[in-house]
Amino acid sequence: MTRILAIESSCDETAAAILEGETRVLSSVVASQMVHGKYGGVVPELASREHLRAIVPVVREALETAGLKFTDLDAVAATSGPGLAGSLLVGLTYAKAISFATGIPLIAVNHIEGHIHAVILEAAAAGKPVEFPALALIVSGGHTHLFEAREPGSYRLLGRTRDDAAGEAFDKVAKLLGFGYPGGPVIDLLAPRGNALAIRFTPANMKGNKLDFSFSGLKTAVLRWVEARDMEAEIAARKALLRGNPKPSLEEWLAVTPPATLDLVASFQHTVIGELLRHAARAAESLEGARSLIISGGVACNSGLRAAATQHAVGVPVYFPTRALSTDNAVMIAAAAYPLFRAGKFASLEIAAEPNLALA
Ligand code: KG4
Ligand code: ZN
Repeated sequence: MTRILAIESSCDETAAAILEGETRVLSSVVASQMVHGKYGGVVPELASREHLRAIVPVVREALETAGLKFTDLDAVAATSGPGLAGSLLVGLTYAKAISFATGIPLIAVNHIEGHIHAVILEAAAAGKPVEFPALALIVSGGHTHLFEAREPGSYRLLGRTRDDAAGEAFDKVAKLLGFGYPGGPVIDLLAPRGNALAIRFTPANMKGNKLDFSFSGLKTAVLRWVEARDMEAEIAARKALLRGNPKPSLEEWLAVTPPATLDLVASFQHTVIGELLRHAARAAESLEGARSLIISGGVACNSGLRAAATQHAVGVPVYFPTRALSTDNAVMIAAAAYPLFRAGKFASLEIAAEPNLALA
């Protein structure tokens, strides 16, 4: 059985995993960087430093959990892009060193293809493989991309965000309201407590490609809404709560969040979900023969999105990864590396990290 060690370090998670064959996960370790919280977003210099600190212990733990040594591996894979240059470099360079020292081949993986393979792997492992051709909606802090996947490995870009990514919109709105970083999980937690129809935000009217996304107008609309009200005291109260407690409970948040703000959060999330699914439905309709929709990336954790994304809403069966494989991890990198290994598509030790690497 093939055993692939994969490393992911494109943003603020240092992760390593070992996959046996196509679907058997022998280990998966994810070290999330906590240093960025107080800055309201990922600080690239701090991210590379944290990756440097974590990479060796994270890979060691992945090997130990699997009960394997470097010499038991058949290949080492790493994310080569897209992502933060300094962050990518740490994982890719370490993978090159492993390849050089042990003689096993190096496989370079596109991070976005990794998010797609998280779903392909889990669906296959559950005995309900994703049917192709499929649509893939990748929604994370860095990406909002809609692809046609004729088969795994063959992609065509149908639409992408022209400004903020969906996760970035969650993060920026949360920061504005004093909910800290990352913003998605808090908004997800509080949205069910508000009235999602209380505020009508107008969806972006895209000129040109109707499958492109835009979230900066929504972000500005939220900012205007906040500016028109006196919210300083409640925002300060939430920031104070976060200083003493990096992960407040629902009750603690509710104590510093009035109903009007819950309505705002709910309406914002509702608008984002509506935009994502409207685009997916439009793509499913225009693409004859699409048999499924894959939704992956950090925003795929969102409970409201999971509940709303039914076959009825988009026209084809919808596949989500489990929450652990929705956000950045290395299992998805190993899963994307497996077909490349089978096809003998190895990378040279000279390969560079590519912050803007495209999938299609
Ligand atoms: O895939 P990911 O871990 O990293 C990137 O490749 O960007 O995604 C992180 C993003 C963040 O913007 C975070 O706020 C968002 O995913 N996110 C969520 C939820 N959990 C994480 N957004 C909405 N609802 C959630 N439950
Ligand atoms: Zn990601």
